[in-house]
Amino acid sequence: MRRDMRRVERDKELTIAIDGWSSCGKSTLAKALAKELNFIYVDSGAMYRGAALHAMRKNLVSRNHVDINRIIASLADIKITFKQNSKGKAELYLNEENVEKEIRSIEVSNSVSSVARIKEVRLFLVKQQRIMGINGGVVMDGRDIGSIVFPLAELKLFMTADPDVRAQRRYEELKAKGDEITLEEVKENLKLRDEMDSTREESPLIQTDDAIVLDNTNLTPQEQLIKTLELVKKARKT
Ligand code: CDP
Repeated sequence: MRRDMRRVERDKELTIAIDGWSSCGKSTLAKALAKELNFIYVDSGAMYRGAALHAMRKNLVSRNHVDINRIIASLADIKITFKQNSKGKAELYLNEENVEKEIRSIEVSNSVSSVARIKEVRLFLVKQQRIMGINGGVVMDGRDIGSIVFPLAELKLFMTADPDVRAQRRYEELKAKGDEITLEEVKENLKLRDEMDSTREESPLIQTDDAIVLDNTNLTPQEQLIKTLELVKKARKT
């Protein structure tokens, strides 16, 4: 049934769904693929981070409190969009304010999974994500892209890497941006988010049966891109 439906869609370019654990290089790969294939890239995590930032600013979420009802009510006041900067990089806007830098902070990372587990938040964002990918030719990364957002995606990747390697990479990335942070804080955040994201009731992170696992512990960004482009070739032929 699914395969038949995929065939009907054959005229469209591929939809590529990339899911996986926190900070395992999903967005690095997704961006490189989109550039190579001339596809649209959508960072679904940025959208959840934007929703979390809005809730934080309204004091509706912190490490030990989540005001679910008011977060749901506040969705009516949120407009989340991407706009390209002068270098062609998509940046996240929350109600017309560029929040790209702020959403990557450890404070947002520490609250985002508590907001992302709320069903209404997910429905609100998934609706927009589906519209962004409606014409195919899209690479989207996140936690539920192959399972919920685009279950008929022709190519699904499930990315993973050694937890210490993931933490080290994210630590270096944040340090390079000037964040005052310790490796321990990063490790703790990744562990907490992986736990929350994979055990929540709504759209938990799962590896779907048709996803191809890509462990990039020992791969450079270029190597993972080459491997994936081979998979794209195959997916286009089937
Ligand atoms: O870049 P990193 O892998 O650390 O995270 P992200 O992709 O920016 O996602 C941030 C958080 O948003 C995740 O930890 C999830 O809680 C949530 N998320 C989600 O629930 N569903 C998605 N499709 C994408 C992100």
